[in-house]
Amino acid sequence: MSKYSQNEILAEIYTRTDIVDLISEYVVLRKKGKDYWGRCPFHLEDTPSFTVSPDKQLFYCFGCQTGGNAINFIQKKDGLTFWEAAAVLAERVGVELNSKENSPTRQREYSEKQKFWRMQAAAAAFYHELLLVSPEGQVARDYLTRRGINEESIKRFQLGFSLPAWDALLRHLLNQGFSAQELAQAGLIVARGGGGGYYDRFRGRLMFPIYNYMGKIVGFGGRILESGEPKYLNSAESRFFSKGDHLYGLHMARTSIQHSQQAILVEGYLDVITAHQFGITNVVGSLGTALTETQARLLVRYSPEVILAYDTDQAGVAATMRGIEILRSQGARVKVLTLPDGKDPDEFIQKHGREAFQNALRKWTQGFFAYKLRRACERYDWGNVTGKVAVVEELLPDLAQVNSEIEQQEYIRLLARTVDISEEAIVADFRKYLGKTRKTGTNWDRNAQFRHNKIEVRALTNPLLGKSKLAERINRPAHLMAERKLLQMILEDCSVWPKAEAELGPDLFTDEYLQKIWAHLRNYLANRVYNREGLARVIDELDDPACQSLLTEICFHDCPADVEQRERLLDDYIKTIKRYRGQQRIEQLRQQIITLSEAGLAETTEAKNLMSEYQALLREHKVK
Ligand code: UTP
Ligand code: MN
Repeated sequence: MSKYSQNEILAEIYTRTDIVDLISEYVVLRKKGKDYWGRCPFHLEDTPSFTVSPDKQLFYCFGCQTGGNAINFIQKKDGLTFWEAAAVLAERVGVELNSKENSPTRQREYSEKQKFWRMQAAAAAFYHELLLVSPEGQVARDYLTRRGINEESIKRFQLGFSLPAWDALLRHLLNQGFSAQELAQAGLIVARGGGGGYYDRFRGRLMFPIYNYMGKIVGFGGRILESGEPKYLNSAESRFFSKGDHLYGLHMARTSIQHSQQAILVEGYLDVITAHQFGITNVVGSLGTALTETQARLLVRYSPEVILAYDTDQAGVAATMRGIEILRSQGARVKVLTLPDGKDPDEFIQKHGREAFQNALRKWTQGFFAYKLRRACERYDWGNVTGKVAVVEELLPDLAQVNSEIEQQEYIRLLARTVDISEEAIVADFRKYLGKTRKTGTNWDRNAQFRHNKIEVRALTNPLLGKSKLAERINRPAHLMAERKLLQMILEDCSVWPKAEAELGPDLFTDEYLQKIWAHLRNYLANRVYNREGLARVIDELDDPACQSLLTEICFHDCPADVEQRERLLDDYIKTIKRYRGQQRIEQLRQQIITLSEAGLAETTEAKNLMSEYQALLREHKVK
């Protein structure tokens, strides 16, 4: 048992882990300059844009912007939570993680969670046994046979049956030492109104255990066997279970998804089970049509490419359109499979088999843009001008979001061909659209920044693409770039800090992300110790993924080694930041002066003072 605090244990893990050694176990790394480079394990690429820094003990991919410290690497590589990944590394370097001295709340939470998992496993085993052998289970066995689900699948997915009785599970689990209160909290039993005890939530249903990505059972879906409502009943949402956090089948599909670098996303339990039964193993289910951001994030951890294969009914189409957006917002390359004659994957595979499905995948899968184009063409009559305009206008926003120029050109060509308009006309419309959104988009949104960086980085790392014209078109306020570069420079060379503070005051940054990062970083820099855990710990302390990835990115951009050049740049940054602050102040003063004069107070000393400050600033910043 160790006597160390959580903080000390993390520091110990970082000290004893060399990130280059660690990542070398997964990725072939080559030394270039002071850093190591290799092919990114988190997205498909031909030219290495994944880099590991032995000095900073961080990794970063310039292609997909994944980055972080050693624990973050294991988290992402193995799909683990922070503490699970910490446990993996702790074991690797021989540090005791689960000591009694670790935060008591965290310990209690962990043991409650483990009890919850044991309870779910016990319930699943009970249901499974009933499906396999109970006389009442015959109807469920017959049902599965009718649906073409074989014995092996029943066992692999541990399907089950809940008895059509009020307290079968309750009694069984009470006997196993769980309390009624715990069972109710976990959503397996329901309290009767009026304080009259409890009854089983699932009765007379075919039971599908829901697994998390590690293969722990966290809840259930129960399908009704006759007609009735609801068709599927799920475990109640609780502290330990939220349906939208899980993808059905991911624990079985994750390796296959990583290998094929492609995931197929379907709606239902049976779609997943059938696919796996027929040897199509990179398939996971979203448990209904409402894909969540959490599910999308979970999935892109394993593969950058996702094929949506939802039902082709109206609900499925609407869900596909939403799914495209959600997946794309998490950085996925999205495609859509439309199976012929309105079948869902389960029906299609059962009827036509594996090979036919694979052929269908080749034949009926479209990129998200082509899919949306087809949908738009179905809705408008593009035989006439109004229809053509409507189709083009609907797709311009998607075009603007595309990161690579090659892709963009391809889509413009497709659009032109489909609605029979010249490419030049579409490009012209697209320019106008970009101009318009730039004018209205006064707020500098962060996504645009990330998109922008992506474009810039691609242009730098991929000689094919050259300097992207789109990159130049996207609005990027100079002062924010200056703030970022300033932080980069301070990180590289601490002596810059006092000078910057002398010019700008102690609050160096206006951007809230940079402010947050700075609050933690200045602490680290003040006691700057060049040891392994340094920056890794700052990343952990930051706690906010957006800040973490921004800091990692900043760490991996170099600033010039030449001292004179550096000084020139520093002056430049400071000037830009000051100019921005001046402009902000000018605007603020203008508002105050207007307010005062509207209140008839234009002649007061206060107003006059404001006015002279205003005019001085205008002169200083040469605003006409
Ligand atoms: P579907 O209604 O398409 O069901 O819902 P299905 O999977 O094709 O079911 P079968 O083939 O008729 O047995 C798709 C998925 O949506 C979720 C379930 O996960 C289901 O598999 N769902 C559906 C619910 O959670 N609750 C419902 O009431 C209906
Ligand atoms: Mn279905």
